[in-house]
Amino acid sequence: MNILVVGGGGREHALVWKISKSPKVSKIYCAPGNGGISDLAECIDIKATDINGIVDFAEEKEIDLVVVAPDDPLAMGMVDELTKRGIRAFGPNKRAAIIEGSKVFSKNFMKKYNIPTADFQVFDNREDAIYFLKHCNYPVVIKADGLALGKGVIIANDLTEAKKAVDDCMINKTFGKSGERIVIEEFLEGPEVSILCFTDGTTIVPMPSAQDHKRVYDGDRGPNTGGMGAFSPSIYYTEEIEKFCIKNIFIPTIEAMKKEDRLFKGVLYFGLMLTDNGPKVLEYNARFGDPETQALLPLLETDIVEIFEAIIDERLHEIDVVWQDKSALCVILASGGYPKKYEKGYEIKGIEDILKHENIFIFHSGTKKKNGKYYTAGGRVLGITAVGDNLESVYKTVYSHIEKIKFKDMHYRKDIGKKV
Ligand code: AMP
Ligand code: GLY
Repeated sequence: MNILVVGGGGREHALVWKISKSPKVSKIYCAPGNGGISDLAECIDIKATDINGIVDFAEEKEIDLVVVAPDDPLAMGMVDELTKRGIRAFGPNKRAAIIEGSKVFSKNFMKKYNIPTADFQVFDNREDAIYFLKHCNYPVVIKADGLALGKGVIIANDLTEAKKAVDDCMINKTFGKSGERIVIEEFLEGPEVSILCFTDGTTIVPMPSAQDHKRVYDGDRGPNTGGMGAFSPSIYYTEEIEKFCIKNIFIPTIEAMKKEDRLFKGVLYFGLMLTDNGPKVLEYNARFGDPETQALLPLLETDIVEIFEAIIDERLHEIDVVWQDKSALCVILASGGYPKKYEKGYEIKGIEDILKHENIFIFHSGTKKKNGKYYTAGGRVLGITAVGDNLESVYKTVYSHIEKIKFKDMHYRKDIGKKV
């Protein structure tokens, strides 16, 4: 098979790596890809959001399967356009991807179908929002309706912070059209877990649990990032909690989507908070998470291409999805300054050294390869993943090798998986 993966970060590198293990695959393309991906796939200079460019390329190269990984092209309907042209594509269509693309949609959806989530109100008018904020409890959470590169959620501790968040969304348009409508919701507390699930809209198969680390500094301090590390499984996600989630969250969600004529085929990601009053959904994502994918895919034993094909054909129930009963941990190495301003183009040294070790994987997030050398090309640069018997051992493995990687101004969190 010829496969095209759309995207160019660490998640896509992990996907390309896993796809490359499939005996069904003869050639992999990735658009736009990155330096690490170029070792496994032919990288094509087409943007992940260029729907016409991707569809034309897939047609010309007779691609057998396109895997659309990032949120934007899914929300824009890339899978719909590929399908219209007779090209098989993995990922939800536009009607289903709205579960991530609009928080107003997902909150109203959860309310309608009694899926546990934080209490909320929707506003499309600044004055009404401010009136509400004068009378609510703090902290309170303010969310832009649409996609905002993971930055559209503000936790406000008092009215002044809340007003600023509303003005940033609705007046200053920090998130463009995404902030024209906002959700104001109850602040929840508890451990957070990410449960990514394969689903064909009828059958849902959860992956092992994972925990993400969004803040830039140790101890969950500093601004939010695209994700500084992840590990699997989470100690908080007990069998009892899993049972509750399957019955009260996962199955009700896919059944309700089907009922709304929004059959969801792809990976559905449940961002959960395990509160004292039970698990609640913080957010849905319509795709693989980053960096959870870099921790999860090395644990997957089943051929991922078979899973993708079964989902497209709506026969996921036929597949036995098997995982190694192990732990995995991924730490992201970032450019100095990230998530704010940072420089690019520094040479990265030490990658080959690490790859000599078994059970360690390097997934590139933002790199370029030139004349056989890798250079930094993004805020998040590399993800170092280790697989082992337990969390303690994978923590040790990753952190004992990480200093072998060197690039100017590199920084990373030292506590991924340390204090859980
Ligand atoms: P989201 O993009 O919706 O997952 O939100 C980003 C982060 O904001 C989450 O991972 C949580 O840490 C935090 N968050 C979102 N909603 C809430 C909430 N209702 N209460 C407390 N924290 C929240
Ligand atoms: N790890 C969170 C996300 O992919 O949105």
